Parts: sequence; C-alpha cells; structure tokens
Amino acid sequence: MRLALLGGTGDIGEGLALRFGFHTNHDVVIGSRDPDKAHDAAEAYTDELNEQGVDTKITGFENEMAADRGEIVFLCVPPYHVADTVAVAADRLSSDDIIVTPAAGVKRDEDGFHYHPPSAGSVTALVADAAPDSVPVIGAFHNLAAGRLTNLDADLGIDTLLIGDDTTAKETIGDLAEDIDGLRALDAGGVANAAEVESLTPLLITVAQQNEDLHDLGVTFD
Ligand SMILES: NC(=O)c1ccc[n+]([C@@H]2O[C@H](COP(=O)([O-])OP(=O)(O)OC[C@H]3O[C@@H](n4cnc5c(N)ncnc54)[C@H](OP(=O)(O)O)[C@@H]3O)[C@@H](O)[C@H]2O)c1
Repeated sequence: MRLALLGGTGDIGEGLALRFGFHTNHDVVIGSRDPDKAHDAAEAYTDELNEQGVDTKITGFENEMAADRGEIVFLCVPPYHVADTVAVAADRLSSDDIIVTPAAGVKRDEDGFHYHPPSAGSVTALVADAAPDSVPVIGAFHNLAAGRLTNLDADLGIDTLLIGDDTTAKETIGDLAEDIDGLRALDAGGVANAAEVESLTPLLITVAQQNEDLHDLGVTFD
C-alpha cells in the first residue's frame, strides 16, 4: 500500500515512517506544508533505513501531493491543525482511501497534562466531520511514543487502539498496524468512543514523566 504521512516531518511522522520502512514493504510518502522540508525529511529517513540494511526509498512532497499519492493518509499534525490539513488534502482523496488520525487533544498547565478535546468531542470526530463523506476515518496509533518508534533497536510489544465507524477500513488499518513487528491492534469501538481512547495520551505522558525508566512507555491489554 502507499502510505502518505502528512506532517510526516515531525516526531510521530518520523516514528511511523521508520517503522513502516523497517518492518514492511509499503511505500512511504512524507508530506509537509513545505516541499523542501518534506524532501529533506524523506532523505534523512531513507538514509537511516539504508544504514539499517533496508533497501528502500522514502519520498517527500507538499501535503496535497503526498495525499494524492497515498491510499492511507495519516494526519501527523498537531490536533488543532487536523481540519486545515484535511482541507488541503480533500480534493485528492477518493472513497478507496482511508484517513488515519493519531492526534489527541492535550493541554498542559501547572498541574500537568490533561485531556482537552475539541468541541466535536474528540479529534477523531473532528476529522470525520472535516473529511469528505465518502472517505472513512480511523483513529489509531495515539498511544505510541514517537521516541520508541524511532529507536529501531527497541522492541515494541505494545498495543494500539482502533477507533472508527467503517468496519472494513478499521480492519485494513488493524492489519497495517500489525505489519509492524511487536504492535497489536485492538478494536476500541466507533467514533463515539474516540474520546476515551484519546484521553489515554495525557495519562501516558504523566506516567512516563513520574516514573523512572518508563520514558516512551506503551500499553498492553491483558
Ligand atoms: N509525538 C508523539 O510521541 C505522538 C505519539 C502519538 C500521537 N501523536 C500525535 O501526532 C500528532 C503530531 O505529533 P508530533 O509530536 O509529531 O507533532 P510535531 O512534531 O509538533 O508536528 C508534526 C508536524 O505538524 C506540522 N505542522 C505544524 N504546525 C502545523 C500547522 N499549523 N498546519 C499544518 N501542519 C502543521 C509540521 O510539519 P510541516 O512543518 O513539515 O508542515 C510538523 O512537523 C499530534 O496530534 C499528536 O497528538 C504524537
């Protein structure tokens, strides 16, 4: 499959690009608002994978062009910019494509990190509202720490929760997630359940900060 990581120049984009490049044969395309930045990031990820012995080439384009090339389009951007990013990509998407959102609304104050959903109720719902009606939206990969993904020597051994109303699209993204060694995908319900899943993110950040040796932690359900 062709995977387009919009905003793939950032932390989770790098982690997903490296893991998909390392563990799978899917084509990875990096998107950015700036095509030069996308190209530079794609080159850096390709170099890293080549050094790891993987013969692959990741490419980079402006977000709209990356979306055009992708079948699975990831919104690897801060939560308050997901709707803008969908708007940029919308004309390039078809009903055969799937949008994936890993974003969670998190705010930080003097007491720490807290869940801060948008008025739609969750980022996944916000993306579903912004996306063309024919394009399914799946929330996934929220609870994966970018640092752990980026360290290709690190075993994952963690779960990711899938949210979405389109069962077929959810299965596709579940299979895609499990193409990454050590990642198990679990169905966590429909878009109406997205807030529960997204709210794990500030909890995980707090636990990682408060406990030694739990930096870049993940969760498993047992
Ligand atoms: N970091 C993690 O460990 C992690 C884990 C799971 C999920 N997530 C989620 O993934 C999303 C991205 O997180 P991140 O840590 O990768 O963020 P980030 O590094 O701060 O930003 C990612 C990319 O977003 C793009 N961006 C920034 N401002 C933008 C704007 N105004 N409009 C459109 N694009 C913009 C930038 O790409 P360009 O400048 O190249 O356009 C940037 O490289 C977040 O929603 C977060 O909740 C993060």
